[in-house]
Amino acid sequence: MISRRRALAGLGALPACAAPPLGAQEAPLRQVARARGHVFGTAVRADLLADDAALAALVAREAELLVPEWEGKWDALQPEEGRFEFAPLRAIIGFAQRHQQRVRGHALIWHAAMPPWLPAALAEGPRRAAAVMEAHLTAVLRETREAIRDWDVLNEVIANPEGSDNPSPTDGDLRPTPWLSALGPGYPERALRLARQLDPTLRLTLNDYGVEADTPHAEVKRQRLLRVVRGLVQRGAPLDAVGIQAHLQMRDPFRPEPFIAFLRALRELGLAVLVTELDVREPDALAPSLAERDAAVAEYAGRFLAAAIEGGVRSVLTWGLTDRDSWLVKEPAVARGDGAATRGLPYDEALQPKPLRAALARALGGG
Ligand code: G3I
Repeated sequence: MISRRRALAGLGALPACAAPPLGAQEAPLRQVARARGHVFGTAVRADLLADDAALAALVAREAELLVPEWEGKWDALQPEEGRFEFAPLRAIIGFAQRHQQRVRGHALIWHAAMPPWLPAALAEGPRRAAAVMEAHLTAVLRETREAIRDWDVLNEVIANPEGSDNPSPTDGDLRPTPWLSALGPGYPERALRLARQLDPTLRLTLNDYGVEADTPHAEVKRQRLLRVVRGLVQRGAPLDAVGIQAHLQMRDPFRPEPFIAFLRALRELGLAVLVTELDVREPDALAPSLAERDAAVAEYAGRFLAAAIEGGVRSVLTWGLTDRDSWLVKEPAVARGDGAATRGLPYDEALQPKPLRAALARALGGG
């Protein structure tokens, strides 16, 4: 729990002690990326930045762009109707300002991270749901207008195919959620138009996952996302970018061609594409040594990153910097069944760089 005193005082990280030394030749990822017109960023949590100086120093050194892992969601921002909690998000914004970093927003409309009052309110019907959406977006976009210029307005709105990790029994392209039930299939357009009306120059992003691999499920989801996005664009809905979460799974084959074609189809609609939550889940059968595991993760991610850059991605954010804090380690639903800790981020639990960091440097540095 972030110390409220520190957050309210706008205090960020404790005095930065030296992050674990990278090799002298290792330029920060933010610098390597920027030199080629790319952006590297990562997800952060206010409590970890405030309490872990080594992590804070590493984030400050490596990232140009931050995204709150939790602090920009409904259960963090509006835990009770009408009561807004901006302190944790302000702490992240303050940290970014002190380290010449930017912050992107995540996530305004999502079916998860809902405080208990929200689904109940949405179930009361469309008028109540529209009012709740408007009140939240109005308050949050007013609060963050100066500091956050890109929001995931829509998060995980595309239906997952039958047989995938979490199938969405649906007859359409939209995932069945309390938002869809309350407002019907026009809710994505409603949210985008409301955000645009509230902030004419905000970049509005639709963010989703499961569109990366060379599998039938991923192809179905790519086509569903393209249909939804084409419909929004054709109706003149204000959409600026598509976020590709890139929670990669090494059990799935990856082939550049279908993924690059997907990115190019989005770019042809006039949309920017960005990688928003990169991390890598290792295969069930692990390589015998950490060195071999880390090399395999870096090789898989390296092929994905090369394709992403070729397809027009210019911003890549990882979903954290260190395995120690990864949802892939902490969340029971995705943690490994064999008790091993997934090694899917650029730094290990001791904040030491792994080959995945070098793969990011190669991709973002134009290598
Ligand atoms: O609830 C406590 C809160 O009281 C406390 O102040 C705060 C301090 O950080 O922690 C809160 O705990 C948890 C929070 O993560 C921070 O660790 C929440 O209970 C927990 O639900 C939340 O889980 C996050 C999850 O999204 C739901 O918001 C995960 O960390 C985060 O990695 C995960 O991220 C999602 C993306 O938003 C969307 N794409 C998939 C990705 C992985 O599921």
